[in-house]
Amino acid sequence: MKIRRAELLVSCPRKSFFPDSDRPEVAFLGRSNVGKSSLLNALVQRKQLAHTSSTPGKTRMIHFFDVEAEVAHCTLVDLPGYGWARVSRRERDSWQSLVEGYLEERSQLCLAILLQDIRRDLSEDETLLLDWLAERKIEALVVFTKADKLKTMQRKKRVAALRAQLGDRPIAKLVTSSQKRQGLDELWRAIREKAQTWESLSAADLE
Ligand code: GTP
Ligand code: MG
Repeated sequence: MKIRRAELLVSCPRKSFFPDSDRPEVAFLGRSNVGKSSLLNALVQRKQLAHTSSTPGKTRMIHFFDVEAEVAHCTLVDLPGYGWARVSRRERDSWQSLVEGYLEERSQLCLAILLQDIRRDLSEDETLLLDWLAERKIEALVVFTKADKLKTMQRKKRVAALRAQLGDRPIAKLVTSSQKRQGLDELWRAIREKAQTWESLSAADLE
């Protein structure tokens, strides 16, 4: 996959900072430390475009990246993670209003990618979030991260367990490893498909 350009557009602590854009947008959602910023970097083949850290809670603002890839010209959005320890109620509320505000109001949003560490079970945070997205008819995809941490048999078992936990939600799933660059072509294919659908719908709206 050829990436022609990947650059930070803006980092937003509040809704009023969100950029105007007529590009399809793809957001990375999930628990803190699950690997959102790493997956974004792996997709765009840049080591530290989005800042990663082994300390949870690294991404506190919403970061918008303009990405021109061979298959799509889109905005990738790195959202702050939830679920890290030692946060005050006020910080939790501020995460919720920032992220929900983004997800609810961004008409360019063509895909929300929910990341899930392949080694962990889904928690209520993930299932509630998936149901919340479905209620709002926001297209979603579940990506299992850090597949390199498991051997093949163990990985298969975990994928089966996670699929069972997702139940009958009609949602696509992908297994990835940012470190081993696994699953990235499939992920770009999913992004391309949603971006193209969004572009043809918005072109039809303009006619
Ligand atoms: P927040 O910004 O806190 O919400 O976290 P995040 O979801 O952006 O996670 P980040 O990408 O910063 O990664 C967290 C840690 O997991 C880092 O130490 C990464 O190096 C590690 N990590 C991410 N992806 C992978 C992967 O595919 N394999 C392995 N082994 N480690 C990974
Ligand atoms: Mg991050």
